[in-house]
Amino acid sequence: MTYTFSEETIEEIREKNDIVDVISEYVNLKRTGSNYKGLCPFHNEKTPSFVVSPSKQIYHCFGCSEGGDVIKFIMEYQNLDFIEALQLLAERVNINLDDKKLKRNSKENKKRKRLFEINREAAIYFYKNLFNNKKAYNYLLNRGIDKKTIKSFGLGYAKSDWEDLKKYLKTKGFKENEVSEVGLIIKRKRKEGYFDRFRDRIIFPIINTRSNIIGFGGRVLDDSQPKYLNSPDTPVFNKGKNLYGLNIIKKNKNDKILLVEGYMDVISLFKYGINYAVASLGTALTKDQAKLLNRYGKKFYICYDSDKAGQLATDKALEILYSQGIKAKVILLPENKDPDDYIKDNGKENFNKLLKKSLDYIDFKIYYYKKIYDIDTVEGSINFTKKITSLLKKIKSTIEIDVYINKIAEETNISKEAIKKEIYQNKKSYAKNREKDKYIYNNYRNNNNKEKIVPVNYTLEPGHLTAERNLINLIIKDKTIYNKIKDEIKPKDFFNNVYRKLAEIIYHKYNESDDMKFDYVKDKFEKEEMKKVKETFDMENPMEGSEKIKAVRDYIDKINYYKLKLKKQDIKEKLKQYEKNESKEGDVEKFNQLCLQLISIEKQLKLHQ
Ligand code: UTP
Ligand code: MN
Repeated sequence: MTYTFSEETIEEIREKNDIVDVISEYVNLKRTGSNYKGLCPFHNEKTPSFVVSPSKQIYHCFGCSEGGDVIKFIMEYQNLDFIEALQLLAERVNINLDDKKLKRNSKENKKRKRLFEINREAAIYFYKNLFNNKKAYNYLLNRGIDKKTIKSFGLGYAKSDWEDLKKYLKTKGFKENEVSEVGLIIKRKRKEGYFDRFRDRIIFPIINTRSNIIGFGGRVLDDSQPKYLNSPDTPVFNKGKNLYGLNIIKKNKNDKILLVEGYMDVISLFKYGINYAVASLGTALTKDQAKLLNRYGKKFYICYDSDKAGQLATDKALEILYSQGIKAKVILLPENKDPDDYIKDNGKENFNKLLKKSLDYIDFKIYYYKKIYDIDTVEGSINFTKKITSLLKKIKSTIEIDVYINKIAEETNISKEAIKKEIYQNKKSYAKNREKDKYIYNNYRNNNNKEKIVPVNYTLEPGHLTAERNLINLIIKDKTIYNKIKDEIKPKDFFNNVYRKLAEIIYHKYNESDDMKFDYVKDKFEKEEMKKVKETFDMENPMEGSEKIKAVRDYIDKINYYKLKLKKQDIKEKLKQYEKNESKEGDVEKFNQLCLQLISIEKQLKLHQ
């Protein structure tokens, strides 16, 4: 939009469009005293908390805190920008805006144009480079991207020199400070001058719906890190407000939009004829992106990676979309696949089959939380049911709710009556005293960093304590075992307080002497701890040689396994807390890190099985 309107024109439009009249066209309003009330169109609710004030000419929702004047309402409700909303409202009251257009601040406009030019020039340069660089071109061919697709997305290659693009753009008449404004070059810290941000990377130009190049992504050609670099936020690029592939969506007009995670997913799907995919730009989906999607599609699908992090991100995205009134469906991929992998291996037909089988909001939640809570345990199935019923409360149709109640009852061992009670009576639950039964383990200490660990409820299995005891017993009986393992497992790795203390004494003693006697430790423990210590010393152990070594391995394995399990519990707990605090505009970086940690722990746990 290169024009705007004067304050007077805007005021005239506002005055002639009475807010109650306008909102009544979209929301059923009822008078209450001097105000009007209705069901909020911006979030799901059953009792009205959306208030419109005729005297102040504003609206406000006490449920979701949306609010503003009549223009804001139209912007939000119709997903329009300011100028578009003004136009709609002007038309509504027969104001002709044609001769009221004012040129937008032309200096600012010029600047934006200039920045877009730099990006365009760079993109053309990268594009040409690609065809002159065998390594880069072959990389794309090997990933199944053909020339036509390269063209459609304007893919390119940034050479490996530190100042290649900088020098090139200079010859085109662009100054260093301008080029650095779009993030293509970066100021050196210690020396004078600038260097290229993207070096030896495949380049993905990010293009908006008006065909301007607003930023870039760049991928390495091997396994080095970071895998992708992206343009920083600049005067023409705001990551949270754009999506990769939106330009293609706009061109191809389809009522479907498929949300994916990565650049390569969008491109690969496109190559196989699915030309309605977009990717959020390396971050969790934002509200602004959800609003943007609303403008360009009618039916929405999410298809993220099938790993843990992907599923978590799916759950987040589903919620963000839901908060904007979008009911997206979720496409599930087989294990360890992203859309790119899947369509390459299985083709379009099969992808479309998955799309047909996609899960709606509640079905995904059932699928997802079934995995999060271990529903084979009483504890897990109660938490699962609570979570799902809290979501069911949002659904208005009792028939639909009934269908889900049956489903949950089938999935868990909880009766339909109990589930109904939970939904309709909002009762706090029958599971109050369960916590007491559990062995609450809250002094687990993380040894590598001082970060505070959230106390976790964790049931230590008996096999684990046996492993700790037996290992200590073997160490006591044979110092060569101690010598073998002392660097691998430390006293602090023992979970049980008594065994940990015992290990500390033994390790200390072995440091200076060669034998280990009960006498060394007997006055160092409380009376009730003594039984365990004595038992550990007295155990008979008939194992010999290699058998003994194997047993030691098994015990260490077991201890490490529980350590990982505990760590996993802890991360899950943190993720849950993160979810609870999401209104605080959570720390996405931290969230992603936790997900990565979780994946890595699960991989390690698998090795132990
Ligand atoms: P993925 O790691 O899933 O990569 O990141 P991918 O899309 O499957 O990429 P390929 O197939 O290995 O080439 C998904 C998206 O997250 C962002 C990028 O936008 C990427 O497309 N990302 C990922 C980054 O911004 N930086 C990174 O280091 C990694
Ligand atoms: Mn991929």
